[in-house]
Amino acid sequence: MTSNVVVRPSGRSFSTDEGETLLDAGLRQGVTLPYGCRDGACGACKAKLLCGEVTMTGSWQPRALSETEAAEGQVLMCRAHASGEVEIECRGVVAEGVIAPRKFPARVASLARPSDDVVVLRLQLPASERAQFNAGQFLDIILRDGTRRSYSIANAPHLAEQVELHIRHVPGGRFTDTLFGKAEPALKERDILRIEMPLGTFFLRQSNRPALLLATGTGFGPIKAMVEHAIHTADPRELRLYWGGRTLKDLYAHDTALELERQAKEAGVDFTYVPVLSRPAPEDNWTGRTGHVQDVALADESDYSVWQAYACGSPAMVDSARRALVERGDLLEDNYFADAFTTAADNAVPHA
Ligand code: FES
Repeated sequence: MTSNVVVRPSGRSFSTDEGETLLDAGLRQGVTLPYGCRDGACGACKAKLLCGEVTMTGSWQPRALSETEAAEGQVLMCRAHASGEVEIECRGVVAEGVIAPRKFPARVASLARPSDDVVVLRLQLPASERAQFNAGQFLDIILRDGTRRSYSIANAPHLAEQVELHIRHVPGGRFTDTLFGKAEPALKERDILRIEMPLGTFFLRQSNRPALLLATGTGFGPIKAMVEHAIHTADPRELRLYWGGRTLKDLYAHDTALELERQAKEAGVDFTYVPVLSRPAPEDNWTGRTGHVQDVALADESDYSVWQAYACGSPAMVDSARRALVERGDLLEDNYFADAFTTAADNAVPHA
C-alpha cells in the first residue's frame, strides 16, 4: 500500500511504497530530508509527526531518539514507515545544491599516518568521474558483503580528482583494522574500493551569517573541506573554528589548520583557528585554550544569534553544543548543522 507524506513547513510531499522508510522515499523522490547514518544512531533525521500514523521498525539509539521525544510524537525518518495520509514537521529539508549520489570504484592513492590512531586515506577517482559534492558531505565505502562504512570527505569539491578521508582506528572495526594493518588483507596503495557519494546533508550553506565551526577528533575532516571551499570562493563571511582533543597529538592536523589560517589571510578570508585541549599532556607545554570546544566557544561570544553553527565529531560534543546553542536560545534549530560520528558498534546497540 502506498502512503502520502506532506512535510511542513516546506509543503513538499512524496509517496512511500510498501516497506519503504520515510527517509528512503523522500530521497528517492528528490525531497532531501536531513539525514546522517541512516541507521538509527545519529538522530539527524528526527521529525515530528503532526497527523496520521507511522510505525518505527528496527532498532535505534536512545541518544538518537529518547523515550521522552518519542512520547512527544518525534520519529526517526530512517526508521519510520507511513500508513495512509501522514503529515510531519521537519525544518531541515535541503533546498539548495542537492547532488544525486552515485556508486563507482576508486583506487587507493595513498595512506598516511599523521598520528597513532588516524590514517589519512586518499582515493583516486576514475578519470571519467570528477566527483561532485558539497563541502562537508560524506561517502560510503561498500565492503565485499555489501555492508558500508561512512567517512566524511576532508577536501573541498574543487580538489575532487581525489577524495581525502580522515579515519580513526576503531579497534576490532572490520574496515579500520585492515587500514591499520591489524587484519588481513591489509589495505594498500592501488587497491580498489567501491564507494557511493556524495551523501548526507551536513555541508556549508550559502549564507551571510558568520559560521561557528566546532570539531573534535576526525570531525576536523569535513570542517577542513568547508574552510578550503570558503578560501577557494573568497567567502566574505567570518569563519571561526574551535578544534578540540584531549592532548596535542589528538590535533593530528594542527599544522594543516594553521596553514589554512595563513592561506585564508592571503585570500582575504576571515578565518580563525582556535585549538582547544581538554587534558593537555605535560610534554605538550600547552599555553593555549583548555576545556571543551563548545564551552570555549560560548565563553568567547556572549550571543551567537546572528551565526550559523556547524558541529562535527563525537556525539557528546554535538549534543552538548546543540543544547548550549539552541536550547539556551542563542541559535534557532534551523541554523545548527551537525554530523555526529557513530560507528558500526554504536549502531549495533539497539534501543528496541
Ligand atoms: S539518519 Fe536516522 S538516526 Fe541517523
